[in-house]
Amino acid sequence: MDALPAGGMVAMTVKWPAEAIWEEVFAVLPSFSVEILPEVDSTNTELMRRARAGLTDPVLLVGERQTAGRGRLGRDWKSDTQGDGGTLTFSLGIALQPQDWSGLSLAVGLSVVQSLHPDLQLKWPNDVWWQGRKLAGILIETASAGDQRYAVIGIGINITPREGDGLRTPPAALQELMPGIEAPVVLQKVAAPLVHAVQVFASQGFAPLRQAFHGRDLLYGQPVVCTDGTQGIAKGVDAGGVLLVHTDNGLVKINSAEVSVRPASPSSLS
Ligand code: BTN
Repeated sequence: MDALPAGGMVAMTVKWPAEAIWEEVFAVLPSFSVEILPEVDSTNTELMRRARAGLTDPVLLVGERQTAGRGRLGRDWKSDTQGDGGTLTFSLGIALQPQDWSGLSLAVGLSVVQSLHPDLQLKWPNDVWWQGRKLAGILIETASAGDQRYAVIGIGINITPREGDGLRTPPAALQELMPGIEAPVVLQKVAAPLVHAVQVFASQGFAPLRQAFHGRDLLYGQPVVCTDGTQGIAKGVDAGGVLLVHTDNGLVKINSAEVSVRPASPSSLS
């Protein structure tokens, strides 16, 4: 039996498919590496730190334990603090030079849901939802990398069910719809297609993905309220991934990351 460390937690050894992922990706991204850290403040923070220090090679960084995970809009991201695989937290760092960055976060969300399960939906811009609850979140940041920009694409996926942590809606977990699935398998399913998706996005933009996003769009046809006061019926996204809302005054475009969207009905989605 394992001896308990001072804190009383049993250290879990997770076997990550680092080599298998590297083999899938290195042919299209020769300097690519996969790195697993037992503990990090935040995989996004770490890759942004490295980018600011001039380290901009493509990397997939997994944090078994994040001590200061970050979410969108300056929020915390409560992730697995025990390193037991209850949450998969990782970031892809990759230099990109798309003509137009708009829609990258939607392309990333789309890649994640397409890699995992047909029943997963996207709540604009890029939250992954299942049966009315959030299952995964995405945080994208960029730093300069010569004539390109280094995109740090952070993804957190709930693998095992967790407490609500004071959120209005308790989060969903992947094991609820894919019983028995574990973080390393999820990483293997998601990683290489994600690299491919961002490379395709860099050359073609979001427009070719619009139809596929529509098929996963949780908000389409729903009454929504935005934090800028816009209210109406969500009508999908345009070719740049901007949310379209049909209001009493006509079609309004919502493109700011500062806008949150939620249904106006009492059964609030977020
Ligand atoms: C959100 O829904 O607000 C975005 C959550 C993003 C969480 C991931 S976990 C891996 C990476 N590191 C972080 O600190 N955040 C992202």
